[in-house]
Amino acid sequence: MKADPHPWARDLSQLYAEVWARLTRGVHDRHAPARHPTLATVTPEGRPQARTVVLRAADKAAGALDIHTDLRSAKVGDLRITPFAAVHVWDASAHLQLRLEANVTLLTGPEVTAIWASAPAASRLSYGSTPAPGQRIAQALDYKKVADPASFVVLRLTVTTIEALHLGLNHRRARFDRGDDWAGTWLAP
Ligand SMILES: Cc1cc2nc3c(=O)[nH]c(=O)nc-3n(C[C@H](O)[C@H](O)[C@H](O)COP(=O)(O)O)c2cc1C
Repeated sequence: MKADPHPWARDLSQLYAEVWARLTRGVHDRHAPARHPTLATVTPEGRPQARTVVLRAADKAAGALDIHTDLRSAKVGDLRITPFAAVHVWDASAHLQLRLEANVTLLTGPEVTAIWASAPAASRLSYGSTPAPGQRIAQALDYKKVADPASFVVLRLTVTTIEALHLGLNHRRARFDRGDDWAGTWLAP
């Protein structure tokens, strides 16, 4: 019989550790699936919106993730009204889907000076373009990329639940809640 390639999926605490290992890999490895999660927010009209982002930090002990964006972007407008987000990752090599719910805090100005200073120059150009992101322009390239620390915001996601679905010979689905100290429970897939 072939060895189980994902033995961690059989045990709740090992599965939880694997989830954070894969999220953390996303921060450090540009080829890791968790590098580019989908971030979903709720618009002021109460509709869902989803977009790809880069995972910039993952802190297992705090249960927190960071995403960087432009303060004037639509997602920030969404989060000012509804400060909750969902995050989705499909890690194909691990046969693992992650679905996270989080409370989101917007960090700006002096709170993010150190993070801004450590961001590569090319990344900084993503924050501060003129006109603001999402504005209509006459031609496709009628915009300038300007690195502006005043437009830089860190979305700090305090994760409240993590759901993991592992597709193996047997499918396994688990939910981990901050409220019960991430002990986790199995769910019918
Ligand atoms: C691979 C990839 C990575 C992206 N990373 C980010 C990111 O880290 N931050 C960000 O604000 N937008 C990022 N974007 C752009 C967003 O998907 C989105 O188009 C943009 O932020 C505007 O979204 P909004 O109008 O919903 O605010 C990325 C897009 C792609 C395709």
